[in-house]
Amino acid sequence: MPPKLPRSPFKFALYFIKFFKWPLLAMLLFEAGQAGSQILLPYAIKEIIDVVTKLPAQTTKDLVFSSLEGPLWIFVGLSLGVLIFSRASGALLIYVGPALRRLSRFNLYSYLQYHSHRFFTTNFSGSLSNRINEVSVGVNHSLWTAMFDFWPVMITFSVSLVLVAKTNLQLAFYLGGWVFLYVTVSFVLASRARKYAKSFAAARSKVSGKVVDSVTNILNTKMFSRKEFERQYLKEYLDLEVKKGRETLWFMEKMRWFQFVSALILQVGIMYMAVNHWLAGAITIGEFTMVTSLSLLIINDARGLSRRFLEFFEYIGNISDGVGIMLGEHEILDAVEAGPLQVRKAEIEFSHVGFNYTDGKEVFKDLNLKIASKEKVGLVGFSGSGKTTFVNLLTRLYDIQAGYIFIDSQDIAKVTQDSLRGQISMIPQDPMLFHRTLLENIRYGKLDAKDEEVFEAAKLAHADEFIRELPDGYQSLVGERGVKLSGGQRQRIAIARAILKDSPILILDEATSSLDSKTEKLIQAGLDNLMKGKTVVVIAHRLSTISHMDRIVVFDKGEIVEQGSHEELLKTEGHYSMLWKMQAGGFLPEEPVAPLPSKLDH
Ligand SMILES: Nc1ncnc2c1ncn2[C@@H]1O[C@H](COP(=O)(O)OP(=O)(O)OP(=O)(O)O)[C@@H](O)[C@H]1O
Ligand SMILES: [Mg+2]
Repeated sequence: MPPKLPRSPFKFALYFIKFFKWPLLAMLLFEAGQAGSQILLPYAIKEIIDVVTKLPAQTTKDLVFSSLEGPLWIFVGLSLGVLIFSRASGALLIYVGPALRRLSRFNLYSYLQYHSHRFFTTNFSGSLSNRINEVSVGVNHSLWTAMFDFWPVMITFSVSLVLVAKTNLQLAFYLGGWVFLYVTVSFVLASRARKYAKSFAAARSKVSGKVVDSVTNILNTKMFSRKEFERQYLKEYLDLEVKKGRETLWFMEKMRWFQFVSALILQVGIMYMAVNHWLAGAITIGEFTMVTSLSLLIINDARGLSRRFLEFFEYIGNISDGVGIMLGEHEILDAVEAGPLQVRKAEIEFSHVGFNYTDGKEVFKDLNLKIASKEKVGLVGFSGSGKTTFVNLLTRLYDIQAGYIFIDSQDIAKVTQDSLRGQISMIPQDPMLFHRTLLENIRYGKLDAKDEEVFEAAKLAHADEFIRELPDGYQSLVGERGVKLSGGQRQRIAIARAILKDSPILILDEATSSLDSKTEKLIQAGLDNLMKGKTVVVIAHRLSTISHMDRIVVFDKGEIVEQGSHEELLKTEGHYSMLWKMQAGGFLPEEPVAPLPSKLDH
């Protein structure tokens, strides 16, 4: 079952915390310890100064050290505290950080696996993997921003307020008021900046999308000599990125004005008030030093804070973006009490099936078709007549809107998808291969197959001979999606894979269309072997591929217009016989039917 993941960005980020409860709690304590020790240092300095200023003018080294003993120990203790707490939390981060990322990626990928075929035809793989990455980075960063920035700053602010309040209430009110206003305004500004950051990010990802599209189509660019055109095309999007970038940066610049001006107000104000209080004898010189250095520390922290707010919102924005797309409802789910499909005879029945990919454009209206156990059926029809759709429905890549599909009288919507697809071998027109070795690619049909079984399957599919000629043989890598093989070679690998899978239902959707007639004939023996004892559906435009099937079913615009054996259909002189006659390889004689008129005759 897919993992249950929350869909709101905050909840999503928090969801993974519970797996690291104790280390994260310890990190919170260590960070608090570090921030506390750091901010108490000015207090230790105050104690030292107060002791030193009260000493008589003529004093001995021993006296200085004996009276300073307490404050100095506090100072050393706090300095050690900063060191130990920060490194302890650093060590835990090494443990938690990568594990947290692994967990979020793993869960997102697991959830993604359960999405429907439609989902993957609508969302591009590049952008999905990019999103998994962004979301997991977002989860980590937002958590660390809260842990290493917001949380220590809260400690720093509160401890300093307490320290100042113990010295002088008026100063404390001034400082407290400033902190409150600063944090509120920064928060509001940062949440407004989100809008700019988002459109900047959108412009950036648009540019990378355009670059990817251009690079993918580089062959088009070359063949049409459109290099300049592509550069101009890209430039428009780059210009947009610059515009959005400047808008964002200007907004940030305004935020910085706010920061610097408010820092100035705090700095000068505190200094002025502290001097006055000292003059009035309300605070000692040590307290004066402490208050002013505390306010400098606070300003430093606060400056970082508004930047952190911005980043934090950006991370949350990224999470929400990715989660919104990836964690949508799964379209095709196993029924609640779905059991495994039990195949005994492998009979297939389409009963009153109605289906459309998108509303309003019906592919099948009331499709009825029974395929008997071990029957070999060929599907033909014009491009777009619904042959591949038929197969997509049988494998439940899409759910039908009306009717039923049965295999051995079991509704395929009521059994688990894994068990359904486990009983069907499918060889598509354009088979995809993993960028893994050929051995692994073929073995995908049966994970525990021995090497010899793999070689045997490859021999039957007539793949063995070309594989052995490759420099690395069965260990060859075949490039993304298998691009380093020819179309026909890929088809033969797919056939070998299906031979290993050896399931009771076999579907070939134009599975030999990229093979020349000679190679097709060669592997025909292997295919016949593969088809033995199985229920088979073969889709082919090349009619010679299916002419020997038990039954041929002719599709036209989503309807079955004819069916029967090759000979029967030729006799009826309908759709099929017309198609057959049009195909030179099928019926037409080797020589042209009528002699061509020659100009030389005249
Ligand atoms: N993923 C899809 N989304 C929307 N419409 C689709 C999709 N796939 C196919 N169609 C439409 O459904 C109809 C049937 O297509 P299908 O792929 O089943 O035809 P086909 O008979 O296999 O054609 P071909 O011989 O060219 O492979 C076509 O009109 C097609 O445009
Ligand atoms: Mg098709």
